[in-house]
Amino acid sequence: MTTTLTLRRPDDWHLHLRDGAMLRAVLPETARHFGRAIIMPNLVPPVVTAAQAMAYRERICAALPEGTGFTPLMTLYLTEDTNPEDVAAAHASGLVHAVKLYPAGATTNSASGVSNFDNVRATLERMAGIGLPLCVHGEVTDSDIDIFDREAVFIDRVLDPIRRATPGLRVVMEHITTSDAVEYARAQGDDLGATITTHHLVINRNHILAGGIRPHYYCLPVAKREQHRQALVTAATSGSARFFLGTDSAPHTDANKLLPCGCAGCFTATNTLSILAQVFEEQNALEHLERFTSLNGPGFYRLPANTDTITLEKSAPDYPDHIETDDGPVTVFDPGFALTWKVL
Ligand code: NCD
Ligand code: ZN
Repeated sequence: MTTTLTLRRPDDWHLHLRDGAMLRAVLPETARHFGRAIIMPNLVPPVVTAAQAMAYRERICAALPEGTGFTPLMTLYLTEDTNPEDVAAAHASGLVHAVKLYPAGATTNSASGVSNFDNVRATLERMAGIGLPLCVHGEVTDSDIDIFDREAVFIDRVLDPIRRATPGLRVVMEHITTSDAVEYARAQGDDLGATITTHHLVINRNHILAGGIRPHYYCLPVAKREQHRQALVTAATSGSARFFLGTDSAPHTDANKLLPCGCAGCFTATNTLSILAQVFEEQNALEHLERFTSLNGPGFYRLPANTDTITLEKSAPDYPDHIETDDGPVTVFDPGFALTWKVL
């Protein structure tokens, strides 16, 4: 039996760090295990310009615990007013590694997102020209589309038309939750990548709704049926270069989760690597874990893999069930099973 596991240091290709007190509390949880992360720009107000991304990057670096080598990879929030030249300059300077597309109203702090795609055409074309990836929150927002169908409908109605209209555009389908997305991603060329979260490898919609409502399992895109979870596990553990880890660790205080209309997001930064090791082990795919956490993402983003390593050992880890922040406690994602891999 394998009892230790050494991986190139992982990266997180989709992370919410927030700002202020929340940033200070959650950043060490990621920096402890991960080398780099793609930082989501959905602050209030959103990170829209290169100058805002630079300032946010400085706030993150100032909040880093002493002696950590963590590097934040910044993104810009695409709006209908985004200036293509500002985006290109931010990319050329090495500051910005992706642009994030939120359909307006799709999720937390997405009100400034895109409604009319004609108004972002010039930016997308510029991005295709310079190879800057577009990270896509892939859900339609139409009230007549069932929330469990919003990802599959987005692929047909929005994603595929955008890609056809913008040849060369490099796209990340983020936090995919359906077999439809897995199949679409598999069928494309290497200008397309897809991230998979930790929690979507573990929970299906029953975890949220059966036997009582569990707000800590509510995130967007919402977890789907078990057959979709299984398709995600198959994709993540396959070793295919198309799929890589983006935790979408999205902290909200318990006070904001446990409301009549609670916030969407699972906080997984703390225990993600222990959970993933177990998911891969159960599939007899531990030899593919490093590709998913540490190699496929840098490959897509055209960055070198990290050169240092982390080691996990087969023993029960000791994670807290919540972390304290000056805004109040944040519950750590509960995978619902006892963890058996510990990060040394
Ligand atoms: C994210 C958040 O809280 O910012 N929530 C979530 O459920 N994933 C937004 C997002 O990535 O959709
Ligand atoms: Zn997210």
